[in-house]
Amino acid sequence: MSVHCQADDERFSFEAFTRHPFFTEVNRWIVERVIGPGRRKIVDLGCGPGAVTKLILERLGGDARNVEVIGIDPSPSALSKARAAIHSQVVRFMEGSAEWVSRIVSAADAVVFLNAIHLVPDKAQVIAEIRKTLNKDGVFAFNTTFFNGAYVEGTGAFWRRWVVRAVQVLRERGIEVKHSDHAVARQFLTPEEYSDLCVQAGFARPSVDLVRIEMPPESMRDIGRFSLFIEGALPGVPLEEGSAALEKGLERAMDETGVCAVPRNWLECVARAP
Ligand SMILES: C[S@@+](CC[C@H](N)C(=O)[O-])C[C@H]1O[C@@H](n2cnc3c(N)ncnc32)[C@H](O)[C@@H]1O
Repeated sequence: MSVHCQADDERFSFEAFTRHPFFTEVNRWIVERVIGPGRRKIVDLGCGPGAVTKLILERLGGDARNVEVIGIDPSPSALSKARAAIHSQVVRFMEGSAEWVSRIVSAADAVVFLNAIHLVPDKAQVIAEIRKTLNKDGVFAFNTTFFNGAYVEGTGAFWRRWVVRAVQVLRERGIEVKHSDHAVARQFLTPEEYSDLCVQAGFARPSVDLVRIEMPPESMRDIGRFSLFIEGALPGVPLEEGSAALEKGLERAMDETGVCAVPRNWLECVARAP
């Protein structure tokens, strides 16, 4: 099975994770700051199964009539979930990727790219592409919890222990994890590095905030069943085995540390096109 097909296996969807209230909170935080009157053409880049698209529509409320919301994602299975979940005349979903978004949409007033920028290998290229899709005074908003600064003090050991225990479970089942497969996209940038990339792409220096939430154990179980998370944590491991090992590894890490809910930071960044 190719990596793309594997990532697109709908049994390993992001949807279950999106139902946790803290996830709505970190996304609503940024949607409320960038979506409002005057934003007529809005791109939900990396829309996945549509959780953020719903928040955009909720934010627009009765003002949605003359608005166009375009959800873009490279995953056909995520897009079919989004299409099944959202029936609105102002929304359309398209298959595509951030790397060539300016060839799909132009003259946008807002591009939101939530919980996805860490997956992109060439972030400078993608941010420059996003700049090209925006109108003057357009806004680019992104958030991520996979950045250098995501771990709240004292919790780094727990996150590392989870992966170590999952690798141990795999080894017990005769599966080796090849560390050399670690994707470039999984490199964690600092908030300053993200901010500099925006400026280099022609944006005004962005506002950067950290929002701290508590992740309950069920949310960690759910993210451990998401294809792109499994591929990031356990590169090269088949999804079925990876997901089972992350579940067992989580149990072991929690038993050993007595940790239950774990705090974590979300980076929230808003850049304006001059
Ligand atoms: C963790 S999900 C986030 C979905 C949605 N934005 C949300 O916050 O609920 C990440 C999404 O980014 C998409 N993605 C991965 N690489 C991408 C790229 N290069 N351009 C656009 N989207 C990408 C994935 O297919 C996936 O649907």
